[in-house]
Amino acid sequence: MTSNSTGFPAAVVTGAASGIGRALATRLAAAGTRVVVADVDAAALADLATELDATGVPTDVADPQAMEELAAAAPDARLVCLNAGIVGSALGAPWEVDPHDWDTVFAVNVGGVVNGLRVFVPRLLASDRPGHVLITASLAGLATFAGGGAYGASKHAVVAVAEQAALALAGSQIGVTVLCPALVRTAISPVGVDPADVADEALAAVEQGRFVVMPHEWRRSVLDRAEHLTSGRAPTPPTPSGDEGWR
Ligand SMILES: NC(=O)c1ccc[n+]([C@@H]2O[C@H](COP(=O)([O-])OP(=O)(O)OC[C@H]3O[C@@H](n4cnc5c(N)ncnc54)[C@H](O)[C@@H]3O)[C@@H](O)[C@H]2O)c1
Repeated sequence: MTSNSTGFPAAVVTGAASGIGRALATRLAAAGTRVVVADVDAAALADLATELDATGVPTDVADPQAMEELAAAAPDARLVCLNAGIVGSALGAPWEVDPHDWDTVFAVNVGGVVNGLRVFVPRLLASDRPGHVLITASLAGLATFAGGGAYGASKHAVVAVAEQAALALAGSQIGVTVLCPALVRTAISPVGVDPADVADEALAAVEQGRFVVMPHEWRRSVLDRAEHLTSGRAPTPPTPSGDEGWR
C-alpha cells in the first residue's frame, strides 16, 4: 500500500457515502485527518459519519447554495476532494441519451466540481497556507469511448476544469490533482479495481504534487488520441496495453 498521510489536518470529501469517496474518507480518517463528509444520500452518510467519527453534511453538489453551506461547515479543510459523480440512466451514443440525462449528468459531474471550486478555492487562498484540491474525473475524460454518452463528455469537461484550475493556481500554495481511474468496483460498476487502492494512489499523488492519476495501461490510448487529433485522423477505440499499475 502507498502512503496515505496527506499531512493536511482537515479535509472534505463529496460523494463520500460510497465507493471511491468512502475509501478516500476512510483512508484520511485512519491517517488522523479530521474529515467532513458530504453526500446526497443522507442515510448512508449518517452511517459513515458515525463509523469514522466524522462530520456529515447532507449535500447535493449540483446545488450552489448547498455547497456554500458545506464550505461553511468545513472552514479549516485544506484538502478538498470533489469526488461526487453519476453515470446517469443510460450510456450510449450522444443521440441515444435522454435530454434530461444530459442536463443531470452535467449538473452533478461538472457543476458539482465547479461549485466546489467556487466555494473552496477562495477560502484556501485566503488562509495563506498550503492546500490541495483532488478532483475525481475518469479515464473516460482522457480517452473517448464510443458509448460514453453524457458521462464521457462530462468527464472530459471535468478534466478541462481541473486543468484550468491548475493553470490558474500555478505559483500559489494550492495544488490540484485530477483522478482518472478506469473501472473501479463501486455502486457505479460491479467490476474493476478496489476503491481503497484508488484512494491510496490518489492520496499519494496529492502528497507528491502530481497532476494526473491514471492507470498506466491506458497511457498509449491517451497518446493515440492526441496524435489522431493533431493529425486530422478519425478516432479509434481506446484499448489497454502495456504495463499495469498507476502513473
Ligand atoms: N466506479 C468507476 O468505475 C469509476 C471510474 C472512474 C471514475 N469514477 C468516478 O468516481 C467518482 C465516485 O464514483 P464511485 O464509483 O465511487 O460511485 P458510487 O456511486 O459508489 O459513489 C458516488 C457517491 O456520490 C454520491 N452522489 C451522487 N450524486 C450526488 C450529488 N448530486 N451530490 C452529492 N453526492 C452525490 C452518491 O450518493 C454516492 O454515495 C465519480 O465521480 C465517478 O464518476 C468512477
